Amino acid sequence: MVVPYKHEPFTDFSIEENRRALESAIKQVEAELGKTYPLIIGGERIMTDDKIEVVNPADKKEVIGYVAKANQDLAEKAHRIADETFSWWRKTKASFRADILFRAAAIVRRRKHEFTAHLVKEGGKPWKEADADTAEAIDFMEFYARQMLDIDKGVEINSRPIENNRFHYIPLGVGVVISPWNFLFAIMCGTTTAAMVSGNTVLLKPASSTPIIAYKMMEVLEEAGLPAGVINYIPGSGKEVGDYLVDHPRTRFISFTGSREVGTRIFERAAKVHEGQKWLKRTIIEMGGKDTIIVDKDSDLELAADAITYSAFGFSGQKCSACSRVVAHEAVYDELLDRVVQKTKNEVSHGNPADNRSYMGPVIDQGAYDKILNYIEIGKKEGKLMAGGKGDDSKGWFIEPTVFADLDPDSTIMQEEIFGPVLGFMKASSFDEALEIANNTDYGLTGAVITNNRQHIEKAREDFHVGNLYFNRGCTAAIVGYHPFGGFNMSGTDSKAGGPDYLYHHMQGKTTSEML
Ligand code: NAD
Ligand code: ALA
Repeated sequence: MVVPYKHEPFTDFSIEENRRALESAIKQVEAELGKTYPLIIGGERIMTDDKIEVVNPADKKEVIGYVAKANQDLAEKAHRIADETFSWWRKTKASFRADILFRAAAIVRRRKHEFTAHLVKEGGKPWKEADADTAEAIDFMEFYARQMLDIDKGVEINSRPIENNRFHYIPLGVGVVISPWNFLFAIMCGTTTAAMVSGNTVLLKPASSTPIIAYKMMEVLEEAGLPAGVINYIPGSGKEVGDYLVDHPRTRFISFTGSREVGTRIFERAAKVHEGQKWLKRTIIEMGGKDTIIVDKDSDLELAADAITYSAFGFSGQKCSACSRVVAHEAVYDELLDRVVQKTKNEVSHGNPADNRSYMGPVIDQGAYDKILNYIEIGKKEGKLMAGGKGDDSKGWFIEPTVFADLDPDSTIMQEEIFGPVLGFMKASSFDEALEIANNTDYGLTGAVITNNRQHIEKAREDFHVGNLYFNRGCTAAIVGYHPFGGFNMSGTDSKAGGPDYLYHHMQGKTTSEML
């Protein structure tokens, strides 16, 4: 009997013992830097001449490791092996697959600080954010293992007296899992293990800036008993390997999390039926956000300022759920803006994430750094710069937490996903207008409303069109099993990761009917 699901608690780093444990894990990870990691195809370790160099975004000179890079020939080999493996893997018992995840979750839990330390280095995550990423990876494995056991119990359907009808779910086939760098462990692990535990075989292409954590997850899954060929680890170029796998006629489904640009490209390519293809490809596509916190006239402004600051600058705003827009009622606008600006200047330290006191680390790479600074220049023209506005890429890719005021709802800063520590303020003259401004975006991922007005809560529940809406708290930090996560409109297919029906996206229903 499996104990009921409960989310993994976060580590309290104000406790000396926990601080020391992570400090020593960071030293351990530092001692292992610079190693080379092969591809894993059918259980075989394959080294390539071409490698991905992975660096610490807080210190560009620190090489985390070198990772073999798949090309189309190796992607084809991996696809063939995944296809062959599916022929028997699909028939394994749900409990066999779930048990692998229970064991893997236990292994990660025992070595939790080691994984967290790795995320600090490979992803540039501050301690708290890295710890939450590891906890979420554990949660996904625990949650999906239980969900698979539940699905396996079957669904009751009716039979007439002359027949015996059954309905059950079967896996789809070979899935391509393409993951982003921002939740380098949690999202990569959640999307991969969901596909695997529902009986599919997987080609895992992690983000090129953070592929090492995916190798480490492969080692854990192997230790937990994952057979060769079920998940194949093939980092590589998005364009070369990604397009090839998406187009492949034997690909049955694609589970993608990342930008709108790449997500829509995959959606279009997956729609094309190639020669020899016998199905319509299923796509699970989760993309970006332009997430708003509304602050009402009657609200707790200190709570609002805390929620906004954390949602905007936690992990340097590099979350699809990050707050990038504040819409405040004109009656509280000035006071709220002042509180957020003061907190940003006084409380949001930014620096080396390996230091426990750092609230905000670097952004992920040079491309992100240049893009965000370009948006900051646009913001200076479109609004009033209240805090931050500068960057420093001499050692790592650091950008100050930046606040703009008095923006127009249609301005670039208010419409485009910046994916960095940039927050914009807008004023509304009524709650209805605030909702209208909040909905004025192509996206629909997260949002929050800070208010003491019950009618306004109910109005927002109906009319604020986002997949994850929160009241009197920030708009980040969804927890697996508690806040199913996914967005509307250009934020994606709303598959709701960590939700009650997530695994069904990886399966198809089969009806059998026997005449008696
Ligand atoms: P990205 O789209 O640049 O890359 C995501 C993945 O796609 C990477 O593995 C990349 O190598 C791969 N890729 C690139 N080109 C490809 C192609 N042609 N074919 C197949 N794969 C290809 O995104 P990113 O920069 O890694 O992540 C940031 C984005 O992800 C942001 O927009 C963020 O909002 C979004 N995101 C969304 C969610 C969500 O749940 N909705 C969660 C996290 C991140
Ligand atoms: N689970 C992450 C959050 O809610 C994406 O911030």
